[in-house]
Amino acid sequence: MAKFVIEGGKKLEGEITISGNKNAALPILAATILTDDECVIENLPAIKDVDTMLALLRDLGKTVNRLHGNHVLIKGAIAKSAPDRALVDKMRASILLLGPLLARSGEATLGPPGGCVLGRRAVGTHFDALSALGANIITDGDNYEAKIENPRPADIFLDEVSVTATENALLLAASILGETSIDNAACEPHVGDLAEVLKKMGASVHGAGSNSMTISGSKRLRGFTHRIVPDHIEAGTLMIAGACTQGHLIIRDVRPAHLRMMMIYFERIDMKFRLIDDISLEVLPAELISPSRKFQTRPWPGFPTDLMSPLIVLATQARGITLCHDWMFESRMFFVDKLIAMGANVTLCDPHRVLVYGPTQLRGQKLSSPDLRAGVALVIAALVAKGTSIIENAELIDRGYEDLIPRLQGVGAKIERRE
Ligand code: EPU
Repeated sequence: MAKFVIEGGKKLEGEITISGNKNAALPILAATILTDDECVIENLPAIKDVDTMLALLRDLGKTVNRLHGNHVLIKGAIAKSAPDRALVDKMRASILLLGPLLARSGEATLGPPGGCVLGRRAVGTHFDALSALGANIITDGDNYEAKIENPRPADIFLDEVSVTATENALLLAASILGETSIDNAACEPHVGDLAEVLKKMGASVHGAGSNSMTISGSKRLRGFTHRIVPDHIEAGTLMIAGACTQGHLIIRDVRPAHLRMMMIYFERIDMKFRLIDDISLEVLPAELISPSRKFQTRPWPGFPTDLMSPLIVLATQARGITLCHDWMFESRMFFVDKLIAMGANVTLCDPHRVLVYGPTQLRGQKLSSPDLRAGVALVIAALVAKGTSIIENAELIDRGYEDLIPRLQGVGAKIERRE
């Protein structure tokens, strides 16, 4: 079991560059199933979830070649429609294979996907969308058996603004002639990045970035070259880490358009930052003051749920009382018991809301990472804390953050990894 050992109290200072967006990379990798042609993906983040998706593609029969840097070439036909169960079990994003496998093989057998335990994470929205496109999905609880005999375009209205269900619908509809509309669609930048790829492959997609999309597919989708958009969650995470340590951090390769809601919240808490140019920003030291207002996650373009855990750590460093509310995931907030063990003054009101009283001097502790985003939040807390912290179960953090240790060391953090 890997652990991070962190000696807190060092300001983060220097330059750091954002990696490719994990949640764009995963559906785009799944999209390579839609063609046998060569697909070149650039700026692919070197993280565990991407490794798992690449292993799934290899298992299905694809050839995967790592080119220089973070570029990967994927080509060839798939040889089966039942991905390896143990790999599927490793992450929730395995569900993204369902749409492309149906498109290419007319059938798919998938075990229920694994991943971070954040609460009830239903797949009904996926099934409804794929069924509208002609799929028949039977589940005995242990396996999803999906078949599609007469694929057809559809007018889909999602019952939840689900990111991966929107992506699954796009992935299947990309191979179906005629226009499919998806309303109440997710509008995150990663959904837009997948839409860009599907356009390069030959589908016609309109409305990406809004909650009403249309897609007209093609029977013969082609290969593509695509650079994955930078990860706005990582950008927000590093902004918070810089502000919490009272550091001076220059963050490169950001897309300010993807940070608008985050910047509103960060300004509200008196974080000091400024855009340097179109793709860089700097975070400067400043006293953090809570506005005594509610900080709430919402579907895009609202404040992202994946940044709620780091935001709670930020609130522990701000003067005043902050109410943090994540309505999406039932278990997102439970990690605050670890912050409390570090000395934070946090009241868990109910599974979705916490009150944070700040500022508090956090103390180093031995902790275990419960999920990816809570894990990175604990890293930030440990960077601020007095003394040494040990964060166990660090593999969970590797799932979503590329080379976190050397990159944080590069900006002055005293952090190391021990196996
Ligand atoms: N939900 C609702 N109502 C809604 C929208 C969502 O109840 O209107 C519930 C859903 O039932 C679901 C949960 O909220 O259980 C999350 O929604 P969604 O289905 O969009 O989640 P997802 O597609 O499974 C993706 C990301 C997650 C991210 C969520 C929300 C990928 C591969 N995963 O998951 O990323 O938290 O969207 O933005 O894109 C992460 O990166 O750490 C991560 C968990």
